Amino acid sequence: MSKPTIRVVADAEQVSRTAADEFVRLAREAIAARGRFTVALSGGSTPKRLFQILADPPFREQVDWSKVEIFWGDERALPPDHPDSNFHMSTGALLQKVPVPVTRVHRLQADRLDRDAAAYDYQVDIARVFGVPAEGPPPPFDLILLGMGPDGHTASLFPNTTALNEKTRWVVPNYVSKFTTYRLTLTAPFINKAANVLFLVAGADKTNLLAEVLEGPPDTARLPSQLIQPSPGQCVWLVDKAAAAKLKNV
Ligand code: 6PG
Repeated sequence: MSKPTIRVVADAEQVSRTAADEFVRLAREAIAARGRFTVALSGGSTPKRLFQILADPPFREQVDWSKVEIFWGDERALPPDHPDSNFHMSTGALLQKVPVPVTRVHRLQADRLDRDAAAYDYQVDIARVFGVPAEGPPPPFDLILLGMGPDGHTASLFPNTTALNEKTRWVVPNYVSKFTTYRLTLTAPFINKAANVLFLVAGADKTNLLAEVLEGPPDTARLPSQLIQPSPGQCVWLVDKAAAAKLKNV
């Protein structure tokens, strides 16, 4: 496993702007090398700003959106038009504004009653896009965007939840007791196969947790973000000064 790279920038706006540069760079590299860019989007406030930046010039012209395959890292049990769904946020901020073909937008259907079937169907859809068996090892996304909640969760891998123990499935339902609801989430073994994982972390409410996650002893049940250690891929933590205030090794 390679060590994560930690990049500290001034504030949340710079986190989003730097992430937009990275998104464009990785998309162009992937499209030049393999003819397409596979990316999983995240929910949250920092990615929303990133998506708005990507939807505007000069960034929107720098990506061949017809060759981007859009997935999500996690989703709430809400219909696609609900304001709190990650799909709705990403659509409003980005996907309605750039020419991504609808056939390349893969919504995570966490609002389906049969959650296990919804998770499995997503795994099958990913496998189809990559041309690999759905029962085999996970294929590598070009980029998985992640955030970290102030409780140490990432995607919908919340502290002390069953999804943290998943070893083989790529996508699972996960019951989150603090919200008394299920979510669907990519699993750590799947995320860890990605070529690039980019965490966006901003704000003083994350200072203590970020220091524990990156520099404290392993405690993955309490700090699920510690499970994310891509191999042989790269992991970059893009953090603002407020969140990085207690990091010693930057
Ligand atoms: C979600 C997420 C979640 C998010 C973190 C951080 O659906 O809520 O995908 O894992 O990334 O909660 O969110 P912020 O960047 O808004 O703090």
